[in-house]
Amino acid sequence: MKPADKQAYLEEYELLKKKGKPFFPYAVLKDSAMALIVVAVIVAMSIVLGAEQGPKADPTTTSYVPRPEWYFFFLFELLRVIKPPELVPLATVGIPTICMALLLLLPFYDRRPERRPGRRPIATTAGLLTIVAIAYLTYLGATGGSPTEIEMEVAPRYEAGKEVVVGTGCLACHKLGENGNDGPGTELTHIAQLIPRASILRSVEIGPGIMPSFRDLPPKKLNELADFLASLD
Ligand code: HEC
Repeated sequence: MKPADKQAYLEEYELLKKKGKPFFPYAVLKDSAMALIVVAVIVAMSIVLGAEQGPKADPTTTSYVPRPEWYFFFLFELLRVIKPPELVPLATVGIPTICMALLLLLPFYDRRPERRPGRRPIATTAGLLTIVAIAYLTYLGATGGSPTEIEMEVAPRYEAGKEVVVGTGCLACHKLGENGNDGPGTELTHIAQLIPRASILRSVEIGPGIMPSFRDLPPKKLNELADFLASLD
């Protein structure tokens, strides 16, 4: 800061301090009153309009597609984009935490007195880029499929089988192309190269090892599923 600037700043500060009001109780009182009003409005709205609760939770469902609230779509998308499991903690916890820490520490590492956005190119650019990045990721998260989706082009006649795989939770234990968990089950991407259709069907019906049995699926679904998997060579 130039000495003249500093002088001007200190004078203004002195002036404001003399004619200003102390933080306690004035500002505290004002903030508390506003906070009370906001809470009262929310309470009143939930009484008048009711709160949406959605359908009752069903712990036995296998077709539930977990999706976050819209304001978490950017994190959700980050998780989708970053596939290697060892990088997932970095994406979900690391990057947001680093950004929050940078924001909290801002007053310590940016100590210039300039406040006008136009004269703070680095801060302004960083801020705008963050907003654009979050907006873009939110858009992708809102329009993209869920992580329980199979992003793989298949012939129309295998589409139904693909949906059965998605809907019955196979991806919790099996990797299929870019999707699913890598283990404990065998990767299914090229399962037809490993075993024939009949063995696939038998595995699904028996549920070898820790795999649950899916023999209670309707025969039509079992057939569609086997057709789809037997086409993956
Ligand atoms: C709880 C985890 C789990 C789920 C859910 C699961 N599997 Fe499996 N699956 C496994 C494991 C583990 C194996 C290997 C079992 C073994 O050989 O001991 C396996 C084996 C298989 C095999 C035989 C692979 C081979 O190389 O012989 C097929 C095919 C298969 N699963 C398909 C499916 C399909 C289709 C679904 C969904 C309907 C499904 N699995 C759901 C864990 C699972």
